[in-house]
Amino acid sequence: MNNLLLEVNDVAVTFGGVRAVNGATLDVAVGSVTSVIGPNGAGKTTLFNLISGAIKPTSGRILFEGLEIQNLPPHKIAERGIIRTFQGAKVIKRLSVLENLMLGGQNNPGDNLIGFFSPRTRKAYEDQARDRAMELLQQIGIERFAQDYAGILSGGQRKLLDLARALMANPTMLLLDEPFAGVNPTLVEKLLEVLDALRTKHHLTFLLIEHDLETVMNISDRVIVMAEGRVIADGQPNSIYQNQAVVDAYLGTRKQSS
Ligand SMILES: Nc1ncnc2c1ncn2[C@@H]1O[C@H](COP(=O)(O)OP(=O)(O)O)[C@@H](O)[C@H]1O
Ligand SMILES: [Mg+2]
Repeated sequence: MNNLLLEVNDVAVTFGGVRAVNGATLDVAVGSVTSVIGPNGAGKTTLFNLISGAIKPTSGRILFEGLEIQNLPPHKIAERGIIRTFQGAKVIKRLSVLENLMLGGQNNPGDNLIGFFSPRTRKAYEDQARDRAMELLQQIGIERFAQDYAGILSGGQRKLLDLARALMANPTMLLLDEPFAGVNPTLVEKLLEVLDALRTKHHLTFLLIEHDLETVMNISDRVIVMAEGRVIADGQPNSIYQNQAVVDAYLGTRKQSS
C-alpha cells in the first residue's frame, strides 16, 4: 500500500464539445493539503464534480484508497469519505443553522426501514447529531447563531457553516472549492485555524481550489496547476513560482491584471 489517498488517472469529460477536463492526472497524499490553481475555465470545479461523482468521466479512472470510484453515485463516494464544499457555500436559508448541520450527517437511521420503525434509534441518532453539530459550531465560532435562520449569516459565516456541514459526515478527505473567496480577513484567520486543527488533530486530507496565491503558498504541501483541462505543473509551492509554463499560463496574467 502506498500513501496515496486519491489518484486521478488520465480523466476526461466533454460538455457539448468543450473538453472541460482533458486528460488530467494527479494524486493526493494521505494527510496532505493539496491546492489546485489555474485560470478561470481551467476545469477545476469540473475536476471536483468528477471526484465527488456529480458527473461521470468520459474516460479515465479515479481511485480512492486504491479502489475505483469513478462509476459510483455521489452518495456512495460520500460514504467512502470524500465530502465537498461548494464554491457558493450552499446553505438552506429557511432552516436554522443547527438544522443545516444536522442534515449534513450521514448514516441517518431514518433513511432505512429498521431505523424508521425504531423511534428510539432515531432519537439516539438525533441527539448524537445535535451534540456533534453544537460541538462543530463552537469549533468554528458561530454557536451563537445555532437557532437562527441560516439566511442571516454573512457570506463568510456561510462558508464556515458549509465546512461544518461537510465535517458532520466524518470525512477522510475534504474537497474545498474556493473556501476563502469573499471571506473577510478575520474569518479567513478563523478558517485557517480550523483547517489546521482538522489536519493536525484529526488527520484529514485536503484538496482545495483557491485563487489567493499567498494563502495557497502558505498552507499547501503541494500545488497542482491546471489550464485548459490539463495539469500543467505539479510540485511544492516554491517550485511552482519557478515554472515557466505556470508563469505563462497563470501567474504572468494574474500579475498583469492585479
Ligand atoms: N455543466 C457544464 N456544461 C457545459 N460546460 C461546462 C459545464 N461545467 C463546466 N463547463 C465548461 O468547462 C470548462 C471548465 O469549467 P470549470 O470546471 O468551471 O472551470 P474552473 O472551475 O477552473 O473555473 C469551462 O469552459 C466551462 O464553461
Ligand atoms: Mg470553479
